[in-house]
Amino acid sequence: MFANPLAPEWLEAPAEANSLPSTVWSRNSARTESGELAIAGVTVTALVRDFGTPVYVIDEADAIARATDIAAAFESEFARIGTTVKVYYAAKAFLCTEVARWMTAAGLNIDVASAGEMAVALAAGVDASRLGFHGNNKSLSEIDRAVCAGIGPIVIDSVVEIGRVAEAAARHGRTQRVRLRINSGVHASTHEYLATAREDQKFGVPLAEAEAVVAQIRSHSSLEFVGIHSHIGSQIFDTAGFAEAARRLLELHARLSVDAPVPELNLGGGFGIAYTSVDRALPVAELAASLASIVEAECTRLGIVVPVIAIEPGRSIIGPSTTTLYTVGTIKDVLVDGEAVRKYVSVDGGMSDNLRTALYGADYSARLANRTSEADPALVRIAGKHCEAGDIVVRAEYLPGDVELGDLIAVPATGAYGWAMSNNYNYLARPPVVAVRDGHARVIVRGETEDDLLRRDAGITPLGESE
Ligand code: LLP
Repeated sequence: MFANPLAPEWLEAPAEANSLPSTVWSRNSARTESGELAIAGVTVTALVRDFGTPVYVIDEADAIARATDIAAAFESEFARIGTTVKVYYAAKAFLCTEVARWMTAAGLNIDVASAGEMAVALAAGVDASRLGFHGNNKSLSEIDRAVCAGIGPIVIDSVVEIGRVAEAAARHGRTQRVRLRINSGVHASTHEYLATAREDQKFGVPLAEAEAVVAQIRSHSSLEFVGIHSHIGSQIFDTAGFAEAARRLLELHARLSVDAPVPELNLGGGFGIAYTSVDRALPVAELAASLASIVEAECTRLGIVVPVIAIEPGRSIIGPSTTTLYTVGTIKDVLVDGEAVRKYVSVDGGMSDNLRTALYGADYSARLANRTSEADPALVRIAGKHCEAGDIVVRAEYLPGDVELGDLIAVPATGAYGWAMSNNYNYLARPPVVAVRDGHARVIVRGETEDDLLRRDAGITPLGESE
């Protein structure tokens, strides 16, 4: 099979450029008989006719199934070692009221990282006690609103927050449940992890100081200490980093349990997903089994009761559920170093609807969506429409070489940190989010209009008239 020397080493020229690898595409993605992509029974041409492009298409049943699967896998593996699990959906990956309701109906709690995320969850009718609250710099007003609403555990991130939360709780006549975020010194990235005394980052208090900090928390009668927390990174593919963090945390947990019982241990989120056909995400059952075995072995070694375990997955629940659809606007064959051609396929979105490629150099895959083609695959780079050379959606992919203007391109696995990090660069309007299920499509977040974009400019809409 033809391969382009400009292709990255990992990218194989596909035997079948129209295939939809099940590891990458949402569960209900398929080609119709005529060859076009349909998601949950809705064809891309129907979606684009009704909602335009770009559009985020979320496979509702896929998102819900992943939430239920992860909860079921962890519950059953941890039941085996005699404890229970609280699953918090990490809302930062993607949140709107509809998704908040899907998650809570599936039995999950929700982890919010700002008053804004909390407001969305509350607007969805989620009971405040089912929310956890994170952040390394929560404002006094955020703390006040959270405590007043009766929020679940607040994760204290630094010593200065102890007094802030204690004072707000006392003012509202509440006993506020709190966790303490620990900087465990373990950092995991996709394929490797690093274990140091203290990870060089802004979150949490160092392991070595944790006992003194917990003593301070316990000295406040308006606070109830429920346990420690750590989150070692995101898009993690193996369990070694989680294992090391769990060992370190459980040792601390055992020391903290000497003075008073510590009911819970929160291991954070970060479970990786496949963005391309070469990524191998750990099956949730395997991940849960492996974490349960580590926790069991450590608790036995330390002679402590297995605590209730909390986890906070975001990406692994919502990431694979969503596909972004774009329309091809221009195509250029660029001869690189006089050596080989890279086909630049420009679409009608870009770093405003998916910042991850530009920001992290993240890799995605793509398919021709409105049709199949038997043309020889060509190496393409899918670029956006922004005035910036780094505005790339998919850095490298093989698409049928006859890709043409007006074709639809589908980029899978855009559900996590796609819409959530979308922006208005170049005054592009943010696309809608459309949920598809059993042959039906409905908007769950409407797309922005030019009016939305102009409304906050005080020179156009005088202040006071915008609402
Ligand atoms: N819990 C805490 C405390 C976190 O900080 C995060 C993510 C999560 C849970 C959920 O992690 P997940 O399961 O989604 O990997 N914008 C980046 C990812 C930043 C993650 C920040 N924290 C990206 O697009 O890859």
